[in-house]
Amino acid sequence: MKGIILAGGKGSRLYPLTKVVSKHLLPIYDKPMIYYPLSVLLLASIRDILIISTEEDLPLYQRLLGDGSALGICLSYAVQARPRGLAEAFLVGESFIGDDGVCLILGDNVFYGHDLTRILEQAIANNTAGATILGYPVKCPSAFGVVEVDDRNRVCSIEEKPRHPKSNYAVPGLYFYDNDVVEIAKGIRPSDRGELEITSINQVYLDQKRLKVVLLSRGIAWLDTGSPEGMLKASEYVETVQARQGFYISCVEEIAWRRGFIDGAQLHRIGEELRMTEYGQYILSLRR
Ligand code: DAU
Repeated sequence: MKGIILAGGKGSRLYPLTKVVSKHLLPIYDKPMIYYPLSVLLLASIRDILIISTEEDLPLYQRLLGDGSALGICLSYAVQARPRGLAEAFLVGESFIGDDGVCLILGDNVFYGHDLTRILEQAIANNTAGATILGYPVKCPSAFGVVEVDDRNRVCSIEEKPRHPKSNYAVPGLYFYDNDVVEIAKGIRPSDRGELEITSINQVYLDQKRLKVVLLSRGIAWLDTGSPEGMLKASEYVETVQARQGFYISCVEEIAWRRGFIDGAQLHRIGEELRMTEYGQYILSLRR
């Protein structure tokens, strides 16, 4: 399965912060925001990853992450000329996806918690055909895609930012699709707000009775970073957990090493380069 991180858009909800800096490069505590979705793909053992952003921002991501070889992964880059909607990721990424299935993660989504790796691996293993989305209980679902499930956890409906949500399960920005997603993306039309909605793709899979949902428990944190307040809360969360436990959240170098993508010597070299920082000291401490 291939992975796509969608890190484009105008970030206009975060102006003036994002007037000259891409939103997904802004810090969530001690790392650029994009490290968090990247870490999710690494945990899912997805090593072939496309990063999509705007023409002016893409070189910054290339400078930050390179070709991925330092993490034992393969990173490609592609431009989304205008923010025409999340579903455009599958059109921009068509040749990258090739004949494979694909996992899409939004560049501003942060996940952390108990059993996350197992949940991701299971979602991929169970999604040999069709699509799998997640459902996460939130107090105010109207700001998100909302999925309604029956008593056997089968999807009954999915709606984008409904005024009257049919459930309190928001759909986080992490989706697993079979290869049909590319053709489905070609067939959908822009919504009233002029975007190719990911929810329209999911609706097609639902109509075909091929949409599964995995409901996340309260043991998982899914954090919103779409507003200054959300960014602050996410930063505080990361700082609190890291300071208390001593384990870092979304340290991509650690995950790459633990998953066997890089060896101890490679990890050590990265730690040495960053040794003046707490982040570097953490990396160096991992093998002690
Ligand atoms: O975060 C989960 C939610 O993400 C889902 O529940 C919704 O169903 C889904 O539509 C999406 O809603 P948002 O309103 O949060 O999407 P937003 O427009 O903020 O875009 C999410 C990220 O994708 C953001 O980091 C910018 C990036 N993006 C967005 C668009 C529309 C792109 O890279 N290109 C785009 O064309």
